[in-house]
Amino acid sequence: MDPVRNPFAPGAGSHPPELAGRQAILDDARVAIERALLCKSSRSQLFLGLRGVGKTVLLNAVEGIAQDHAHITTFIEAPEGKSLAEQLLPRVHLALRKLSLAEHAKAKAHEAMRALRSFAAAFKIEYGDTSIAVEPEAGIADSGDLDNDLPELFVRIGEAARAAGKAWTLLIDEVQYLRQKDLAALIVALHKINQARLPVLFFGAGLPQVAALSGDAKSYAERLFHYPEVGALPEADAKEAIRQPVQGEGAAIDEDALAEIFIKTQGYPYFLQEWGHQAWNVATGTTITLQDARQAEPKTLRRLDAGFFKVRFDRLTPKEREYVVAMARLGDGPYRSGDVADALGETAQALGPRRAQIIAKGMIYSPSHGDIAFTVPMFNSYLMRNLASL
Ligand SMILES: Nc1ncnc2c1ncn2[C@@H]1O[C@H](COP(=O)(O)OP(=O)(O)OP(=O)(O)O)[C@@H](O)[C@H]1O
Ligand SMILES: [Mg+2]
Repeated sequence: MDPVRNPFAPGAGSHPPELAGRQAILDDARVAIERALLCKSSRSQLFLGLRGVGKTVLLNAVEGIAQDHAHITTFIEAPEGKSLAEQLLPRVHLALRKLSLAEHAKAKAHEAMRALRSFAAAFKIEYGDTSIAVEPEAGIADSGDLDNDLPELFVRIGEAARAAGKAWTLLIDEVQYLRQKDLAALIVALHKINQARLPVLFFGAGLPQVAALSGDAKSYAERLFHYPEVGALPEADAKEAIRQPVQGEGAAIDEDALAEIFIKTQGYPYFLQEWGHQAWNVATGTTITLQDARQAEPKTLRRLDAGFFKVRFDRLTPKEREYVVAMARLGDGPYRSGDVADALGETAQALGPRRAQIIAKGMIYSPSHGDIAFTVPMFNSYLMRNLASL
């Protein structure tokens, strides 16, 4: 079929033609967003799931809903090795400038801007000193202790938003890369906001290990956040994710082709997009058949290997690679850390630091004590498929 009209969107964060199976999560988010605007208590949410399940796409969708409901939004992708304060500063500055446009919020926005200026000075962030054209406010958000200053800053932002008759939504992607102390301060800040009933909301997305991280960070995180699980799509939704876009282009797809794609992808969104994309291009008629879905397999796997799997694998050191290959050889996960150690002829204790390093890189996580699993779905099949060339 005409590749120009191919509706599928494989790619990190690419908006899918059909956002299948996420209505309940979006409805919950919308309720929280509308409640926040009314200054009613609403829980922040953390979307947790494996690689390629659609967390970024969800976060983008939530940002859109928030903007449709008079929220000023700030979107951050937590990078490895950059501080939260540094990331927040220019974006909060922008948010405050937007809030200050509302007549009733001028005074409060000005106060928040001063707190931001203090904050920038306390954390020695260049941007602030040079371009926030207000006097810092002594004693507010300037102690240099993030656990203290971030909540004070958030309160000021919340007050400005309330004065403007708006709300502020902060969205952070890849939360697992936040530094421990940044995450802890963020949790304290959100707690404070919640107690003060200010119209501020937080949505985060990250790998499953974040649940444990935030629990460690502050014991009340469990109660502060809602953790909607984002995973593979159930059969009916996975099929819709393929069928709808095809029909939207005036074409069709056979039921057995859909079944084939569902079985091979196990309903993982990234794989669905890639398979749909290739099957569309392979098909010659106006209907995608089982034959087409099957013929698309080698090309789909090549694309996934090169674009989705290899980039992750390449980030590992040779020693770390040895570890994950040993995991893959044990079959489908989760794996016992002890079994991986046995396979490598070492003790689990000796391998602890290496394992921790691979977790920090977001490649594996521990679903329960002593267990280890890949954060990338079907990563073991990828490794086994490519052992010779790795
Ligand atoms: N609900 C959905 N229905 C169909 N396709 C989806 C859905 N959600 C995401 N996708 C598709 O899946 C792919 C991955 O989405 P996204 O980048 O949001 O995943 P992610 O969880 O953020 O992955 P990563 O952890 O690698 O950042 C994209 O091509 C996107 O179009
Ligand atoms: Mg993402």
